[in-house]
Amino acid sequence: MPGKKINVAVAGATGAVGNQMISCLEEADFPVQSIKLLASARSVGRKLRFKGDLFAVEELKENSFKGMDIALFSAGGGTSERYAPHAANDGCVVVDNSSAWRMDPDVPLVVPEVNPHAIAQYTKKGIIANPNCSTIQLVVALNPIHKKYGIQRVVVSTYQAVSGTGKKAIDELFDQTRALINFLNCENKVYPHRIAFNCLPHIDTFMPNGYTKEEIKMVNETRKILEDDTIGVTATTVRVPVFHSHSESVNVETKDPISAQEVRSLLENTPGIKVVDDPENNLYPLATEAAGQDLTLVGRIRDDDSIANGINMWIVADNIRKGAATNAVQIARVLADNYL
Ligand code: A2P
Repeated sequence: MPGKKINVAVAGATGAVGNQMISCLEEADFPVQSIKLLASARSVGRKLRFKGDLFAVEELKENSFKGMDIALFSAGGGTSERYAPHAANDGCVVVDNSSAWRMDPDVPLVVPEVNPHAIAQYTKKGIIANPNCSTIQLVVALNPIHKKYGIQRVVVSTYQAVSGTGKKAIDELFDQTRALINFLNCENKVYPHRIAFNCLPHIDTFMPNGYTKEEIKMVNETRKILEDDTIGVTATTVRVPVFHSHSESVNVETKDPISAQEVRSLLENTPGIKVVDDPENNLYPLATEAAGQDLTLVGRIRDDDSIANGINMWIVADNIRKGAATNAVQIARVLADNYL
């Protein structure tokens, strides 16, 4: 029912994504009746601003969600696993940014431009999952291509910003860079190797098959959101010394004949996408351009002449905004307007 005011809780409010969630609620002029900002006991005493007013951070507890309508969670998988069921039991719908619930068959995994209809399934557990940041920007671009040409296989390599790991990783890249340009030694605390002036082909933990969990998330989540388990997806995920925005090199093979020219105009007419593809003028998607806004930028769209029906493209989006906070707030908006 559009017009209803919502009591909103943000769990993980002091973190990189939680903080952005608060800003996104503000920017989207979300119909907030009341807001509750939750984090660990360490943050009690801190105050955060929402729409000009300061709100005290409260400790996240099992009974934090009584009287709340929607809770946006970004406080890590373990925290979501433990507290989301309590929120749901108290009638507060959880939009969870962690990977804890994404592949649960009773939990919808939603990108509002792609599968908004899945939100209706929230009634099964009272939880809606926000996909992995790299998956969100990928499926925003893949969805119109899949609908028109039928995707056979996707090969994706990511170039992921440190902000996806949280505040500590942002500090680590900053501190290491400053140390190295001053010829000082630096410490590796967050990542197993130096991230400054380096690329780490290692995001999340390794699985017995040699892939990382991040890579497997991209495979499984892409299929779940596009609602097609026959799509072949293979991923290599790499952390790079960039603060904001993930970039992706994507090769798509389709069942039907496809051309770069057609894909360019298809994506130009897709909500949520901005095509930036004018190489003659050095225009292509850049992490620095994507940062701070909500569109998924797509460029370098070109035919893959090595296969019958294939294209290559370069996809960039702000991982903390569209890859996390914005997508969660967009889900909450559909929920508030249509279901609560
Ligand atoms: P806190 O700041 O009190 O530690 P990031 O991913 O940027 O590191 O942020 C993680 C967020 O999740 C922070 O808001 C953090 O709160 C919160 N958080 C982490 N562990 C817990 C927990 N056990 N209970 C509640 N909040 C947590």
